[in-house]
Amino acid sequence: MVDIGVLVSGNGTNLQSIIDSIEAKRCSARIKVVISNRTDAFALKRAEKHGIPTEVIKKEDYPSREAYDAELAERLKKHGVGLVVLAGFMRIITRPMLDAFHMRIINIHPALLPSFPGLDVQKKAIEHGVKFSGCTVHFVDEGVDSGPIIIQAVVPVKDDDTVESLSKRILDEEHRIYPEAIHLIGEGRLSVIGRRVIVKDGPEPTGALENPPVSIFADKTRP
Ligand code: GRF
Repeated sequence: MVDIGVLVSGNGTNLQSIIDSIEAKRCSARIKVVISNRTDAFALKRAEKHGIPTEVIKKEDYPSREAYDAELAERLKKHGVGLVVLAGFMRIITRPMLDAFHMRIINIHPALLPSFPGLDVQKKAIEHGVKFSGCTVHFVDEGVDSGPIIIQAVVPVKDDDTVESLSKRILDEEHRIYPEAIHLIGEGRLSVIGRRVIVKDGPEPTGALENPPVSIFADKTRP
């Protein structure tokens, strides 16, 4: 079991999937606090509806990113948070947070890292012409979307995809894998060796995908 603090800025559908997974006892975690940098984040309403404490920390009240993050770390500690979960939190995390929660901050990103870090990545994936995209849960380090990868889910990119249709397909997978990643941490099943995150007693991954699905060996034995 892990005590988490969820940081949000917007709609909070990932927050909702974490709340639902915890309530359904699929995710071994307790949400101690939800903190937003924006007063109008709908995610705050989602938390309140489930009786979860909320706080807002506005950037205007702090002279620097570091001062903001020092306050953020203090508030999270005050709530007894052991794992920080970024769920659509639109701020770069700086040294005071990284030091206070070393390898205890995770993020979800709507692309298959290390491809397409940063913003507007569904649009970039379509424009680049990749055949698959997906989402990545990773530990947060000092870089942008660059920390060790915990879990990824892959979705096909279709010929007629728009940013909206691809984003929706990816978001559905985000809602599935983020609670899974938190559960693995809550159960103490992850170990990090260099950049590699190993799941203890994890099943073997299987299968290979292709897109477009045109294999000439479709119903024959592979050579
Ligand atoms: C998600 O696409 C997530 O990958 C990204 O921000 C979005 C947040 O969506 N980091 P929501 O606020 O959880 O609905």
